[in-house]
Amino acid sequence: MMGQVRTISGDLLPGATVDVWQANGQGRYDVEQPDVQPEGNGRGMFTTDEEGKFWFRTVVPGSYRIPMDGPVGTLLTLVGRTSILPAHIHFLIEAAGCRSLTTQVFFAGDPYLDSDPEFMVREELVREFQTIESPVKARKFGMHAPFRQLTFDLVLETDADHTSLSSP
Ligand SMILES: [Fe+2]
Repeated sequence: MMGQVRTISGDLLPGATVDVWQANGQGRYDVEQPDVQPEGNGRGMFTTDEEGKFWFRTVVPGSYRIPMDGPVGTLLTLVGRTSILPAHIHFLIEAAGCRSLTTQVFFAGDPYLDSDPEFMVREELVREFQTIESPVKARKFGMHAPFRQLTFDLVLETDADHTSLSSP
């Protein structure tokens, strides 16, 4: 998983904090399985390099079912929607002088993209895996070839952008 953080006007954002959390390959978060997963599994905090880039190695998270025993479940049942969320990775990005951004990336080809019960899926948040065959590139990232790579660039609004956007 890799990406670059920049501003709307294209300035790179070195030193930005990229806070990431995701379910494991079976669609379960560490906090749901304290006896199975080590604390902090599927979570990471990264700082972008001088080009605003970050990368990390992970597993592809599984999709998961949201709890159906509360009012949300009742509502979903009434409107006939599935309770399965398409697989995703959460991001919270923060950089000095910018507004923080909370978002998530989804994966092209996920069978649940069109039935997302939370209506979070948008085309611009769906990315396609690239398959990397190069053993040299695999070694660089501590992987075995072939492996899958996903790029998710993130654009932050600066405080100045926000002031100008909200001016009459
Ligand atoms: Fe999630």
